[in-house]
Amino acid sequence: MPDPAKLTRRSLLVGIGAAGGAGAMYAAMGVLGLAPSPAADPLPRTGGAAGPAPYVPPGRSDFTLRGGRPAKVLVLGAGVAGLACAYELGKAGYDCTVLEARDRIGGRSLTLRGGDTVTELPVSWNGSASPGTADSPERRQVRFGPGTYFNAGPARIAQWMVTLDYCRELGVPLEVFVNSNSSAYVLTSGMRAPVRMRTARADAYGYISELLAKATDAGALDARLTKADQELLLDFLSHFGEIGPAHTYTGGERRGYRVDPGVTAGSALGRPPELAEVLSQGLGRMLTMDAGYEQAMPMFQPIGGMDAIVRALAGRVGAERIRTGTRVTRITNRPSGVEVELDGGAVLTADYCVAALPPHVLTRVRTNLGADVHSALATPIPMAAGKLGLEYGRRWWELEDRVYGGATETDLEIGHIWYPSHDYHTERGLVVGYYNTGPHAEAYDAMPHRDRVRRALGHGARVHGAKYRKDVLDAVTISWRRQPHIEGAWVRWPSTSGLSLLQRPAGRVYFAGDWLTHLIAWQAGALESARKVVTDLHHRVLKEG
Ligand code: ALA
Repeated sequence: MPDPAKLTRRSLLVGIGAAGGAGAMYAAMGVLGLAPSPAADPLPRTGGAAGPAPYVPPGRSDFTLRGGRPAKVLVLGAGVAGLACAYELGKAGYDCTVLEARDRIGGRSLTLRGGDTVTELPVSWNGSASPGTADSPERRQVRFGPGTYFNAGPARIAQWMVTLDYCRELGVPLEVFVNSNSSAYVLTSGMRAPVRMRTARADAYGYISELLAKATDAGALDARLTKADQELLLDFLSHFGEIGPAHTYTGGERRGYRVDPGVTAGSALGRPPELAEVLSQGLGRMLTMDAGYEQAMPMFQPIGGMDAIVRALAGRVGAERIRTGTRVTRITNRPSGVEVELDGGAVLTADYCVAALPPHVLTRVRTNLGADVHSALATPIPMAAGKLGLEYGRRWWELEDRVYGGATETDLEIGHIWYPSHDYHTERGLVVGYYNTGPHAEAYDAMPHRDRVRRALGHGARVHGAKYRKDVLDAVTISWRRQPHIEGAWVRWPSTSGLSLLQRPAGRVYFAGDWLTHLIAWQAGALESARKVVTDLHHRVLKEG
């Protein structure tokens, strides 16, 4: 019997490229008896015969046929979930107003360009410190040149995600996001120097194949496989690991070349390091990153920046319905409506409210939603993640390293280095100099901007050499836990208690966001959650008239 506490903790941990992700979480919930049967699963999913009915957006004709009228709805938060709620409800004529505390829409879907300002809460921020001299937020100007952008939040979309359906519907043009590139590098603390992803893969596949083939030859699998199946296995391994008839891995052209072939045969990299050295490199996670369901190639990005999606949603909602710089301080459920009090004292009323704020921010809004709801909102734990956008005046990674998009994977404090998947061969380009999570991100959260950049440049130089520090035009860092009104990259549920409560409305107040789905840390989660809320709310309005 698995230890439920351990299984839950492990399975609910959303990590970057962590094997499992939402699928593992759901599977673990099944093991624990927490997941409902597919038919009763309250979370809409796209595709799959066993999934719930396809999403049907509300339409004006629903009222023509059944009577009633579209209701008035206050949507709190102009992130992806809030904007999608207002957009979908607007299709049926609902009177939606979106209230956003930040001075811009999009929430975590944040694309930074020259002229933008990045504001960070003080390290000491505990949700209640009043802005004073010691506690003042830090502000930094972004000085990128024309055309340079930095997706400081979401940056990649998997093919199966509903996000692509919204891009199609909203006319947001897409291009491939190169999530995995065999020409990029891997560097772990167990390695003396970086190697190309292709080389590391060739060596890992090669030695694993050699070991398995030799174990087969020695009869170690006789009890498991028939002789015929052993032959099939050996045939598979000869291709998988390029091990040759002697079943010994000696390296091959997959490792790459010192001098590429052309008119001459080139010069291959040659023999691999010893097996013990390959094992000591600790490359398991790096080499399998793009095997994850959420990370498999091809992935996509909107041309020109991820915020194209939120801008398109906001355009459909209508600028006049979105109020930025408007912080909500109280939500009061009344039998016949909802009252929302704003910072400054003004009170707005509506038939319904959709609270599309992060749960840890929502807990600080006074409500009469009850102790159970409050305690459920206080359950998810905000997680740290950070990124660095390095604008270079020269695309040295294309010119010198022949790396066109993709990522260098490391277990260093920088996590990953991303190369741009767009505007190849232009002059400038933006490299993501770190994308870290967990303890590394927590450590970077506490650092001043200049220290984050200095450290990241040092680690990047271990991969790329001295050129990594040259030609940097601007550097922009973000700590998601220090983002005002967001205060976290995403959340982790330490236990699922409270999740299903918040998937239902509390009186006239609905909750929306990726944090209520099995797609935490993806825009798709926010969109799926919005669709569920819109469906539930619309059915209720049609029923109650
Ligand atoms: N969705 C996040 C990413 O792509 C976790 O890295």
